[in-house]
Amino acid sequence: MNNKKLLILGGYGNTGRLIARLLLQETNAELILAGRSITKAEDLVRQLNGDFEGNRVTGIHSDASDAESLKQAFHGVDLVLVASSTAIYAECVAVAALEVGIDYMDIQYSTEKTSLLKSMTSEIEKSGRCFITDGGFHPGLPAALVHYVAQHYDKLEKALVGSVIKVNWAGLSVTESTAYEFMSELADYESLVYKKGKWQKARFQGMLDFITMDFGRGFGRQYAVPMFLEEMRSIPETYPSLSETGFYVGGFNWFVDWLVFPLAAILLKLFPRRAAKPTTRLMSWGLKTFSKPPYGTLLRVESAGTKDGRPITKDVTLYHEDGYMFTAIPVVACLLQYLDGSIRKPGFWTQANIVEPNRLMDDMERMGVDVTSQGQ
Ligand SMILES: NC(=O)c1ccc[n+]([C@@H]2O[C@H](COP(=O)([O-])OP(=O)(O)OC[C@H]3O[C@@H](n4cnc5c(N)ncnc54)[C@H](OP(=O)(O)O)[C@@H]3O)[C@@H](O)[C@H]2O)c1
Repeated sequence: MNNKKLLILGGYGNTGRLIARLLLQETNAELILAGRSITKAEDLVRQLNGDFEGNRVTGIHSDASDAESLKQAFHGVDLVLVASSTAIYAECVAVAALEVGIDYMDIQYSTEKTSLLKSMTSEIEKSGRCFITDGGFHPGLPAALVHYVAQHYDKLEKALVGSVIKVNWAGLSVTESTAYEFMSELADYESLVYKKGKWQKARFQGMLDFITMDFGRGFGRQYAVPMFLEEMRSIPETYPSLSETGFYVGGFNWFVDWLVFPLAAILLKLFPRRAAKPTTRLMSWGLKTFSKPPYGTLLRVESAGTKDGRPITKDVTLYHEDGYMFTAIPVVACLLQYLDGSIRKPGFWTQANIVEPNRLMDDMERMGVDVTSQGQ
C-alpha cells in the first residue's frame, strides 16, 4: 500500500515543524511542507530528510489566500493539515480541499473559522471528505478529557476543564500574523459556561465568573476564566446527567490579562483596522516583559458524579514543559487514528470529539505528555 501524503500548510512554523518531526517519527507518511517562503521550507526539508530515513519530505510554495496555488499544491495529497496562522483564509483552503478532493484538518482557535466550516457540513458530507477542525491543545483536548473521565462514572455530574499556559515568550519568535490572530481571538472570545442545565453567558468576558484550580507543579492555585470552545457544545447532550461543565483558560500574566486584553477588546471593536497593529505590539511586549517562570503548559479536568450508587471524583492533569510540543502531540495522536482508518469518516468533526480518548491518552503519554490521575 502507498504511504499517505500529508501537506502541512505552515509546515516550517513553530507548531508545523514539530508536527512534521513527530509525524516522521511516528508514521510512514510522506510530507510536503508548504508556506509562502520556499527557502524556509527547503531548509527544513533538508534537515528532516537528514534526520529521518526515506527522503519522505518535500517543500512547496503555497499561499493560503491564493486558491490556485492551493489547488496546485493539493494534487496527489491525502490530507492538508492547516498549521498556519491563516484562519481568515479558512474558506479559501476548505473550498480548495473540496475541489481537489482531499481531507482537511486545522489547529487554529478561531470562532469565525469554526462556524464557517460548520456551515459547509453538507458539502463536506456529500463529497465524502473527512474534515477535522480545532486540533491541538486548546482547542483540541478539553472535550476529549471529559470523554476520558466520563467512562469512570454511571452518572457524570460535573466536569470542569482548566488550562495554564506559561511560556517564556522572550525566547520565541512569533510572526506578526500569528500574534494578531492570537490576540484578536483572545480579546473577543465567546464566554459561556454550562450551569443548571443550559449554556449561560458569563459576565464581563468571564472576568466575574472565574474559577480557581490547583494545577500543582509549582503553579499552585491559579484563576481561570470561561472560554467557550465548539468541541464542548455537545458535551451536555452526550452526558445528560451533567449539571455543570465548561472550559476555563488560565491567565498569561497580570499585565496582559487585566490591562491588554480588556483594552484590546474595546479598541478592536471601535477601530478594527487601526487598532490591529498597536494592540498586537502591546500584547507581544506585555507577554515578553511580564511573563515569569515557572514555565509549562497544563490541562486539568476536575470531575464528580456517581458509580454503583456511590459518589466519586476523578481529576486528571496533563503537563508538558513546552507549549508548542503540547500542541503538536495531540495533533499527531489524532492523525495516528486517522491514518490507520479507525476514525476517518465523511463529515465535519472536532478533534476532541472524533478521537478515541484512551488511545489518545496512551499515545500522548508515549510522545512525552505527563498524565497524572487522582480519584476517590
Ligand atoms: N490549537 C492549539 O492548541 C494551538 C496552539 C498553538 C498555536 N495554534 C495555532 O497554530 C497556528 C500556527 O501557530 P504558530 O505559533 O506555529 O505560528 P508561526 O510560528 O508564526 O508559523 C506560522 C506559519 O504559517 C505560515 N503562514 C502564514 N501566513 C500564510 C499564508 N498566507 N499562506 C501560507 N502559509 C502562511 C508561516 O509561513 P510564511 O509566513 O512564510 O508564509 C508559518 O510557517 C496559529 O493559527 C495558532 O493560533 C493552535
